Amino acid sequence: MTDDPWHYPRNDLAERTFNVLVSGPAEALTLFAPRRTGKTEFLRKDLAPYAQKKGHQVIYVSFWRAPLSPLALLLHSLESALKENSIMSRIGGAVSSFGPKLKLSAPLPGAKAEAEIDLSSLKGEPPAELILYLDDLFGRLENKKKPTLLLLDEIQELARDKENRSLVASLRTSLDTRDAGLKAIFTGSSREGLQAMFSEREAPFFHFGTSLDLEPLDESFVEHLLEVSKKSTGRSIERLKAISAFEQLHRSPYFFRGLIELLTLRADLSIEDGIAVLRRQMADKLGYAEVWLKLTAIQRATALQLALGAKKPFSKSTRVAIGKVLDTKQPSIDKVQTALRRLASLSVADRWSGEWLIEDPEFARWIVDTDKQN
Ligand SMILES: Nc1ncnc2c1ncn2[C@@H]1O[C@H](COP(=O)(O)OP(=O)(O)O)[C@@H](O)[C@H]1O
Ligand SMILES: [Mg+2]
Repeated sequence: MTDDPWHYPRNDLAERTFNVLVSGPAEALTLFAPRRTGKTEFLRKDLAPYAQKKGHQVIYVSFWRAPLSPLALLLHSLESALKENSIMSRIGGAVSSFGPKLKLSAPLPGAKAEAEIDLSSLKGEPPAELILYLDDLFGRLENKKKPTLLLLDEIQELARDKENRSLVASLRTSLDTRDAGLKAIFTGSSREGLQAMFSEREAPFFHFGTSLDLEPLDESFVEHLLEVSKKSTGRSIERLKAISAFEQLHRSPYFFRGLIELLTLRADLSIEDGIAVLRRQMADKLGYAEVWLKLTAIQRATALQLALGAKKPFSKSTRVAIGKVLDTKQPSIDKVQTALRRLASLSVADRWSGEWLIEDPEFARWIVDTDKQN
């Protein structure tokens, strides 16, 4: 259970996920879906509390925009889990509030005295003795009767730096050798980023784990938020209008929740006006215009085609359309490829189930809208 009243609980999914992982054959699960679709919310507010209630220890580590290196994050999270026995009470505690020093709970391999390390200095190639130490920590957290759950959020960040290769490889080995007492769930939100870690033949996590689908949220999510909003402010929002707003906001839990929060604060706004205000606020907050300014003409033209729904950016017809916007003849496949790569590295575009698209559907709408105005 969570104390966030706005949270729409997904108990069934938590139970099923837990069973597959703990009683089923899966040594690990992967939960890969675009950003802001509810992965973290599910892990932290549904799955973790469910597993804890059953007496399992849960360790959550997010690699997203972390100020510390992945090794430092792992060491810190595992050490805290050992010390506190229940890390969940602090889950999500701001990473930035970490003290830079970590007192290790056991000596480093080869050393006698206990050590203190400076987490912020752990950059670059991870030292071999700390990788061994990390494996030792996994060993101490293993629990064969009630497997410990390791929730590794935004795992693709771990593969971004080549320097972390030895860490990724050793993580795989640690999980393989302790698969009875340690169960992992990986989430990821960049297909392109995950590719390097899970899909390449030489990658340590090649075909690792069973993939889990996060079912998209439906009307009951909308109804839940309407109820909470009514309870907290007395304002009732018309169900059908709310469902239509949910559709207009691409069925995104992130944007829809933003809308309901806005309507709760601003009793004067109708739903329709609320959507317009929210869109402006979100464009600001998510920096659409800044991202757009960073793009070259061909990158913008390519993004526009994706935003308009072109699924095959390399096809002749799409390239002709790109050329038309640029007032030139159709660009080569290579040129479009380069543009796409840049869009992917800026997290503007991504490839889900083989098809290229603008990763944030609201940004796609903004792009089409902005183009119409020019
Ligand atoms: N079950 C839920 N109940 C209420 N709000 C949710 C739920 N799932 C997602 N959201 C909303 O959507 C936002 C994005 O979800 P999040 O879990 O952070 O996405 P992801 O981890 O996939 O990027 C959350 O901050 C929250 O506002
Ligand atoms: Mg997340």
